Amino acid sequence: MDYKSEIAQVLSGITGLDFDNVYKLIEIPPQSDMGDFAFPCFVLAKTMHKAPQMIATDIAADSAFKSMQWLDKSVNVGPYVNFYIDRGVFAKDTLGTIINLGDRYGEENIGEGKTIIVEYSSPNIAKPFHVGHAFTTIIGNSLAQIYTKLGYKVIRMNHLGDYGTQFGKLITAYRLWGDEQKLNESPIDELLRIYVKFHEEEKNDPELTIAARDNFKKLEDGCPDEVALWEKFRDMSLVVFNKLYDRMGLTFDNYNGEAYYAKMSDDVVNMLKEKNLLVESEGAQVVDLEEYGYPPCIILKSNGTTIYATRDLAAAMYRYENYKFDKNIYVVGIPQALHFKQVFAVLKKAGFDYADKCEHVGFGLVKFKNNMKFSTRDGNIVLLEELIDESVAKTKEIITNNCKQRGVDMTDDEINMISEKVGLGAVIYTYVKSGREKDIVFSWEEMLDFEGDTAPYLIYTYARTRSILRKAKEQGLEPSLKSLDLLTNDDEYLLIRALGDFKDAIVKAANNNEPFMVMRQVSLIARSYNRFYNNSSILGADTEELKCARLALCEAVCDTIKSGLALVGIDVVERM
Ligand code: ARG
Repeated sequence: MDYKSEIAQVLSGITGLDFDNVYKLIEIPPQSDMGDFAFPCFVLAKTMHKAPQMIATDIAADSAFKSMQWLDKSVNVGPYVNFYIDRGVFAKDTLGTIINLGDRYGEENIGEGKTIIVEYSSPNIAKPFHVGHAFTTIIGNSLAQIYTKLGYKVIRMNHLGDYGTQFGKLITAYRLWGDEQKLNESPIDELLRIYVKFHEEEKNDPELTIAARDNFKKLEDGCPDEVALWEKFRDMSLVVFNKLYDRMGLTFDNYNGEAYYAKMSDDVVNMLKEKNLLVESEGAQVVDLEEYGYPPCIILKSNGTTIYATRDLAAAMYRYENYKFDKNIYVVGIPQALHFKQVFAVLKKAGFDYADKCEHVGFGLVKFKNNMKFSTRDGNIVLLEELIDESVAKTKEIITNNCKQRGVDMTDDEINMISEKVGLGAVIYTYVKSGREKDIVFSWEEMLDFEGDTAPYLIYTYARTRSILRKAKEQGLEPSLKSLDLLTNDDEYLLIRALGDFKDAIVKAANNNEPFMVMRQVSLIARSYNRFYNNSSILGADTEELKCARLALCEAVCDTIKSGLALVGIDVVERM
């Protein structure tokens, strides 16, 4: 039930103000003892020629509110009317909905009939998948899940970096020094090795530069041998990336990379020419963007080759043609903000209205506390896989110790499964626990703190609650919806409110493209639940009725935590 709307409806009838106006005025009081909603009467003083206090007194006493079943009371405090929801009715209503929907709680149909493209991950072929690429991967996946939950049709795009002069270098280097076996064993390491070697050797051998340029030209012209090698590098890199995606439970609908769009560059150039948008600047062909306050967007370099932006223009046109998107989101780091502004402005200037439906969703940098050492060959780059492996290993240590201390018996398989989910979850959570534009700093102590703002804390809360439900079952007790109106103490009430606000959090997260808004709610639910758990006994409650009502509350908490974590790609475990 939408309590706020119902209150607004009645207030609108009493005051004569229109509904929207009233709705906007209604506030959520800062403290729960001041009620659940408050209506300030100041605006009415002029039209009603009365002091706000008097107006508030009259409204609070209006008979219309007395007949509302779910409203406990309406009271005026000074110029405010405070509304108190009947906690019993609220508990029944909210928990009933959640338990009926289970994992599906939070689903909406506001996106029905709308298509949204989420571009994310987009790593570069033949390059290591580092922790920076994890940022776009995790945020993008989460946005895709969130929009799906809201009923949108989501197209997940991986705009691979598979084009550029470096492929001419790689082909040259591979023919000279490539090791087929090593390539098969560990593709990215081998490609990186010969790429680095190429740059070293190139310093003393200008022939190499020429050979690389020739090979790139051949690749562009579609010469079969060069294309075959490029394909091999691309396919083998994808094997590595896909392993990581599988581990994280991610899928994509489309892997068209830059090379795919490079083929359409001519169409982009011709289209811009036809619309008289191309001007010459220092030998290059550019679109002037002065009216937008941006530097000109280069389309063709002076040597006639296209650039990154040209390919992004082709990609946007392709996306609109094929998907008629209602929204096209690019999850790419903040340093590329100007690039996207320019691309969208060129589209706009070319008369494509869908330019306004394109949005760059940026994110910050990834940093590490000094005590986090990684055995990386390449000084600064931390591989995502290594970060996850290390997190899983450390989680395993913690869980193994916990089991020993508590005398819990777990098989190795079970410990491994739990450590993988919790360790991976700890990494993912670090990326989504704050606003995406903030830099993140990894530290083992923080991310693996089972009592902190972490995935292990949330997963542990879930697992422990599941174990209470199992224990109850052994005692013949099942969650029951019958007496939910008994759940009215402060801890229960605040927890149920947090659960009820979960669906709004998802909508807000989508409106702002901020997955942390969902996580903040999940974390509030877990903290509210733990307060309730510490203060009230579940299986030791006075009556069986109350026990079963509290078990239903436990079940709703589990459903919501599970479905919330799934929205960022974190899986729960049933015990730990
Ligand atoms: N491959 C690029 C990189 O790793 C990101 C691509 C971003 N997407 C785009 N449509 N330009 O930096």
